[in-house]
Amino acid sequence: MSAMLEVKDLEVAYGKILAVKKISFSVEQGQVVSLIGTNGAGKTTTLKTISGLLRPTGGEIWFQGERIDHVAAHDIVTRGLAHSPEGRRIFPRLSVEENLMLGAFSRRDPGGVRSDLQAAYDLFPILGERRKQPAGTFSGGEQQMLAMGRAMMCRPKLLMLDEPSMGLSPIMMKRIMTTVSELQRQGTTILLVEQNAQAALKRADYGYVLEVGKVVLSGSGRDLLVNDSVRKAYLGED
Ligand SMILES: Nc1ncnc2c1ncn2[C@@H]1O[C@H](COP(=O)(O)OP(=O)(O)OP(=O)(O)O)[C@@H](O)[C@H]1O
Ligand SMILES: [Mg+2]
Repeated sequence: MSAMLEVKDLEVAYGKILAVKKISFSVEQGQVVSLIGTNGAGKTTTLKTISGLLRPTGGEIWFQGERIDHVAAHDIVTRGLAHSPEGRRIFPRLSVEENLMLGAFSRRDPGGVRSDLQAAYDLFPILGERRKQPAGTFSGGEQQMLAMGRAMMCRPKLLMLDEPSMGLSPIMMKRIMTTVSELQRQGTTILLVEQNAQAALKRADYGYVLEVGKVVLSGSGRDLLVNDSVRKAYLGED
């Protein structure tokens, strides 16, 4: 039985700069897997490459038994792999609801789309209360909820979240993390990139630590949380 997502010896370059240097990892169906690492370690680059926004210079990416490293980004979404990008990337002039509906662009089941829209409003009530408001008027945390809601609108099998807690208050951060666990309970597989290693590892079945483009450590979320070098480097302990 192969993993839902398998990344093998992935290499990604920006011109001459090698940002990702032969990393390998996998995500099993139903798991929450966390990628943690310092600034510039290559986490965002890895997610962008998996979702087809960047092309690798080496290695392979497999999703549900099919190779996807040269498949178009929109086709990858249609196959059930969604990406909630770093920095939210919502469309500021479009309304909240229009932003959410963009997440469902490839679906042909209007009934299902309507019920998922309602599910997003149930999860984040503020999105429903302000559904007609231009998304650009939302606060940072509200935009983060919108970005997550939009990624969920394609009913993904695998949801990739790039720093969903960035810039959020502790309460909102907790809310987002609870949502991650709730989505997992509902059957969504999650690849979570987080600066907040504590929060990310607490919820992860498995985790990988990236440093300057390489995987330097991996293990169960629980093992990494108590690992000495992780505690020193990422949890600010000495
Ligand atoms: N468009 C780009 N052009 C050139 N270099 C880039 C580009 N985007 C990223 N890089 C470089 O690639 C490396 C990896 O960046 P990446 O954004 O993947 O890191 P990250 O792990 O997501 O960091 P952070 O935690 O700060 O978000 C960095 O050295 C970065 O400067
Ligand atoms: Mg990043």
